[in-house]
Amino acid sequence: MYSFNNQKREITFKKYNTPTPWMNYLSNGTFHTMMSQAGGGVAFYKSPQIWRINHYKFFHVPTDRSGFYTYIKDGGEYWCPTNEPCKTKPEKWQSTHGMGYTRFEAERKGVSVTATYFVGEYENALIWNLKLKSDSDKHITLFPYVELGMMEFMRELQWQCYNKHQLSCYNMEDVLVYKYGVETQPKPDETPLVYFAANVPVTAFDCDRDEFVGAYRSEENPQRVELGNCSKSTMYGGDPCFALQLEIELKANEEKEVNIFLGTAMTEEDIRKSVENCRKTDFVEKSFKGLAEKWDAHLSKFQCKIPDKDAETMINIWNPYQAERNFQFSRNISYYATGTFRGVGVRDTAQDILAMVPFDLRRAKDKLNLLFTQQYNDGHCNHYCFPTEGWEPVTRIHSDNHLWLVMACYHIVIEEGKLDYLDEVVEFYDGGSATVWEHIKKSIDFCLANLGECGFPLMLSSDWNDMLYKVCREGKGESIWTSMQFGTVLRQIAEIADLKGEDGSKYLETYEQQKKLVNEIAWDGEWYRRCITDEGTFIGSEKEPQAKIWLNTQSWSVISGMGDNGTQAMDNVKKYLDTDLGIKKIHPSMTTDYPTKDGNLTMYNKGCGENGSVFCHANTWAVIAECLLKRPENAYKYYHQLLPMVAQAQAGEWRYKAEPYVYCSNIFGPESDKFGLANVSWLTGTAAWMYVAVTQYMLGIRAKWDGLEIDPCLPKEMLPAKVTRVFRGKTYNITITKNEKKFISFDGKETDVII
Ligand code: GLC
Repeated sequence: MYSFNNQKREITFKKYNTPTPWMNYLSNGTFHTMMSQAGGGVAFYKSPQIWRINHYKFFHVPTDRSGFYTYIKDGGEYWCPTNEPCKTKPEKWQSTHGMGYTRFEAERKGVSVTATYFVGEYENALIWNLKLKSDSDKHITLFPYVELGMMEFMRELQWQCYNKHQLSCYNMEDVLVYKYGVETQPKPDETPLVYFAANVPVTAFDCDRDEFVGAYRSEENPQRVELGNCSKSTMYGGDPCFALQLEIELKANEEKEVNIFLGTAMTEEDIRKSVENCRKTDFVEKSFKGLAEKWDAHLSKFQCKIPDKDAETMINIWNPYQAERNFQFSRNISYYATGTFRGVGVRDTAQDILAMVPFDLRRAKDKLNLLFTQQYNDGHCNHYCFPTEGWEPVTRIHSDNHLWLVMACYHIVIEEGKLDYLDEVVEFYDGGSATVWEHIKKSIDFCLANLGECGFPLMLSSDWNDMLYKVCREGKGESIWTSMQFGTVLRQIAEIADLKGEDGSKYLETYEQQKKLVNEIAWDGEWYRRCITDEGTFIGSEKEPQAKIWLNTQSWSVISGMGDNGTQAMDNVKKYLDTDLGIKKIHPSMTTDYPTKDGNLTMYNKGCGENGSVFCHANTWAVIAECLLKRPENAYKYYHQLLPMVAQAQAGEWRYKAEPYVYCSNIFGPESDKFGLANVSWLTGTAAWMYVAVTQYMLGIRAKWDGLEIDPCLPKEMLPAKVTRVFRGKTYNITITKNEKKFISFDGKETDVII
């Protein structure tokens, strides 16, 4: 069904009809395309909310439509190298996802096509590079096609019948141009025109979708492809599309290259310039090379060689690749998330930053600075913001958002080994500005100013677990997990304070106070309780009938160093929460009348989502906790069973359904009859944290202020491990043969280390 080629950093699919669309993200940071193994997907400029280019019909059947299709009309029949959407299929076919590109190799009746799609660095365009060959002299007609939509997806759903009259799509010297002219759009001056061009002569075109497709037809059988010619329709009001008709002569066994460009530019003049650049002879090749070099440079910063090849595939390639995509897209748009309402989530993005720190400190700092602009003078943060769309942020106050900023900042400072970043000045959301150092101190102040009756941080609008939003409706509920998160970052800020020559001890005093509470109030006898409701009920207790044990307060009791009984807590994770497809978040799952009918915590079905599924993001913290407890076998079990290709093989492809090369957010738990169904893949905190867990805790290579610490916790399946890690500009070659701690001081000469 699929095979990895790690040399090329690719995964190849032999069948187009995977259980769900298996996606890739093609992007240059400004122009983006999410594309499936069958050529379906969606392109957008900067924001999928306001500058979405084509229709992608989420969760409707037929699935994975529309996309970026080129119909090949060869005599009486037509087919597509993407395999979808035609009934006539290629005789030979495979597709491949690589780092920032997706390739289709197809053959039918002597005509073979290699179609590579990518977004290069030099123009904001999705490049479709088609290499065509025929075993005999042949004339074929190509119809590249895109079903355009209204750029604002939500407005389209609501106002399409009126606003469609403000769209135009026309031909400008054989370059098709689409103008989204809707007068009420939020940022008309920043809205680009979209263009569609080829590097070969255009015989005809269509801009009116209904002309091209025809009534009661679909992308499966467009009438113009059947007729063999486009109608030269323009579209001033209606449903737009881009379709080109390209007549191609193929000489036997001679390769012909056709390039198509789906791009954006601000004016017609800019389009002319952009297309002229795209059509230059070496443009496509140069763009592809640039892309490859970019990923080479990025990924070479951390590479390993270990006996477990599945783990190696993830550590070297797909995990950092996925983490970079999360860093870019937050939780905005995927096959599961429609890209309509979520912007940059402060908590999610702060965690994504952790996995960008070892690769690109400037990108990490810029992103964290953006999050600091969402902080208020009292220290709390907005929950999400919309820097591209310019919309008002979601202002709900959660107990954890501001604390993640401290953690991200700590990672940056320690990786860099310099305090300079702390002096960068960033504005507050509610006016004024302060240094990064002041910002993170405010995060701590806010937490201290919002402790509950028992002394733990107030839950407010929930902590990391979104579902806990009902715990604190009267403003009294407290979060024991946030106390542990608070403890974790108190130790980090204390270290930074000392490095700055300020007194870090006050932070450690608060740490000790919280630690005392964790052990005296939160310990349930077998594990740590999860939270306290407005009414004073402890959730996550043996005394409760449901949701007795929660994963996060066990793992973080160890991560924070606060839990005197962390080992026992983690033993009970193994006993009650672990399955062979990952660790459940809660046991047992709740019914919808728990703790009371009116005050129920969830409407999720048992074993689903927040209610007792295997929540992969939280599994990463169990891996870290087991490493801190020095239990490599447990850490490895938890790490290995969630490797996407391992979990997919364990559950079975048609049960698991999601991609075997990227992590998903959750897997249905054993209390569901769909146990093993993975969903919400790609955009999940699992990517960043799994990367941190395996590189910094299992392989144990951790940046410290004055050097690099190697503190591995590896099972026999991962030994010996050879790692190359670029740290502060120097390349370190590390060979680990056993679990023994070693420190390389930064000013030393040593770059080859053997343990
Ligand atoms: C989702 C959210 C994240 C939250 C988690 C657990 O992944 O994006 O913010 O912490 O669910 O509820």
